[in-house]
Amino acid sequence: MKKFFIAICLVIISGMNADAQGNNYVQDYTKFDGLALTPPMGWNSWNKFACNINEKLIMEIAEVMVSSGMRDAGYEYINLDDCWHGDRDSLGFIHPDPERFPSGMKVLADFIHSKGLRMGLYSDAGSRTCGGRPGSRGYEFQDALTYANWGVDYLKYDWCNTEGLKAEGAYKTMAAALKKAGRPIILSICEWGDDEPWKWGPAVGHLWRTTGDIFNCFDCVEDHGTWKSFGVMQILDRQKGLRQYAGPGRWNDPDMLEVGNGMQENEDRAHFSMWAMIAAPLIAGNDLRAMTKETIGILTNKEVIAVNQDSLGIQGFQYSVKDKLETWFKPLKDGSWAVCFLNRNDSPQEVDFDWAKEAVQDSLSKRDLDNRAGEYTIRNLWTKKASGTTEKRFKATVPSHDVVMLRLIRNI
Ligand code: GLA
Repeated sequence: MKKFFIAICLVIISGMNADAQGNNYVQDYTKFDGLALTPPMGWNSWNKFACNINEKLIMEIAEVMVSSGMRDAGYEYINLDDCWHGDRDSLGFIHPDPERFPSGMKVLADFIHSKGLRMGLYSDAGSRTCGGRPGSRGYEFQDALTYANWGVDYLKYDWCNTEGLKAEGAYKTMAAALKKAGRPIILSICEWGDDEPWKWGPAVGHLWRTTGDIFNCFDCVEDHGTWKSFGVMQILDRQKGLRQYAGPGRWNDPDMLEVGNGMQENEDRAHFSMWAMIAAPLIAGNDLRAMTKETIGILTNKEVIAVNQDSLGIQGFQYSVKDKLETWFKPLKDGSWAVCFLNRNDSPQEVDFDWAKEAVQDSLSKRDLDNRAGEYTIRNLWTKKASGTTEKRFKATVPSHDVVMLRLIRNI
């Protein structure tokens, strides 16, 4: 009887404890599953417009995303980067800059959604964003709720002014806040690769920046004094050793595209092709309202996009380098392979590739290029022409700072 009495007391006390804690909600620090099963595609305001954004611009971009054919080619997200923010109100709720976004974010999100697109916003784990606007530190749950109420679909979360914070914990806090808010929102981790986000990022976010910012040059480093930004080739070289971390729902992010922002057409083509080969998010960063037909042609090349968006989700790899001519391979779901010859030289280079003699093996995807003669039909993805089979050696000239990109289609 005494034992029974003690047991009853323990049950009552533990019940009181639960009441004292107010609830028994278990915080979930993981991302929403089932999002970004292929690399996200869209547009972001930063590379071209920096802080100079407003609702008229964003609406025009959304419209051109549709009329240019980009939406139909797969681009989905219209992402506002830094500087959309106004102030927090007396209750701590963030509001958009009232002069630049007088209609408010809900109206803008509704507009973007009405075009069959999705909306992205930007914040920062620290006290202030890189552009000096209010950051989310201490307001994570409130901000996540606000974004969810506005109808936001994608959050780029930056890393300025984060003194004293640990990246993994800070990003987990925002992942938990988004989970609690309940709207499936892609979390784009932007801490520039400093704390090896590829190791902890897959559980927390859907993509993670691997480097500092991109700069619109093919192969240069731009020194801004206290920080540096990197040309396309510089960024590409910094992706070494990371491919095993990528896959459906978790992508290495070598930063947004500079296509259409001032490089030569061949350099833009090489940039876009390599981002496709390494399964990078394809987030355009140019003024879509003022695109040349060459830029549109690059950004909407559906066969190159199909390489990027392939559902196997395997990041391509560098197979060989000779005299600054690189050969890259990417295995694809249907047994095909994408191949890209990248010429980093200042002069044209000859490709002479004997499929029968090469041993292309990928231990990550456990796929080998079957080099029995004639096993694949070759399609050139930029000239959009058939180019024989793998029975014969492949010969081509690759212009300077350009690519020849192929799809080897399995002959069943
Ligand atoms: C950082 C990010 C950029 C951009 C700016 C905005 O530099 O890496 O992509 O978001 O902040 O201030």
